[in-house]
Amino acid sequence: MALSEKENMAPPRHIAIIMDGNGRWAKKRGLPRTAGHAAGAESFRRIANYCRTLGVEYLTVYAFSTENWKRSQEEVAGIMRLLRRYLEEALRDMDKNRVCFRFFGDLTRLSPELQKLCRDAQMRSEEYDVQVNFCLNYGGRDEIVHAAKLFAQDVAAGKRKPEDLTEALLSTYLYSADVPDPELIIRPSGEQRTSNFLLWQSAYSEYVFMDVLWPDFCEKDLDAAIEEYHRRNRRFGGT
Ligand code: FPP
Repeated sequence: MALSEKENMAPPRHIAIIMDGNGRWAKKRGLPRTAGHAAGAESFRRIANYCRTLGVEYLTVYAFSTENWKRSQEEVAGIMRLLRRYLEEALRDMDKNRVCFRFFGDLTRLSPELQKLCRDAQMRSEEYDVQVNFCLNYGGRDEIVHAAKLFAQDVAAGKRKPEDLTEALLSTYLYSADVPDPELIIRPSGEQRTSNFLLWQSAYSEYVFMDVLWPDFCEKDLDAAIEEYHRRNRRFGGT
């Protein structure tokens, strides 16, 4: 029985995914790494649609990290091309798909064309069923440093005092301001690391690590991750 048909299996409000394993998927098939990312982008489309069907409100995906610039120029250009193509399509089909977008990360390093697509997608993002947060040129530590700088600027400008700072206030300076923390973070591909993903927001998240490579990740894998999430007893440090 598909998860969507089961009772008492309400999905988490917010699911985050580290889309890992594209390179290994391609290598296994003797294909270039960019072919793995193209298959990963298809997987993302499928899973974003499925999240909407399930009633997930927020889906956050790690699409490009601050460290990913170290990859070959060809690979970086391939990922950027996929993102551009996806956003162009998404902007066209936004009303039909009822998906809206936010971007977490320092977008200033992206091409002006991609930055404009991100701005346009974000501007059009109101009243949709599911919100996709793309982490682009994103690092969890970088996000916290960026938030600290913004707060320091407000202090220097006399808008805030150092003693005003609380966890709740710091959260408002993060890229994820106004987005609830993810209840579930999924990392496919067999790696068991957080890799600088949502460091602040993951304080109480359940992590589910899975052996499937991201391009092979399908609806039943998301069902399995959500079932695992439901099996765990979430106590938030209480008894
Ligand atoms: C990690 O796998 C994946 C990335 C660094 C890129 C993820 C990007 C996409 C899935 C495409 C983006 C576009 C859209 C539309 C979502 P890896 O390459 O590190 O895999 P490996 O560990 O097997 O080498």
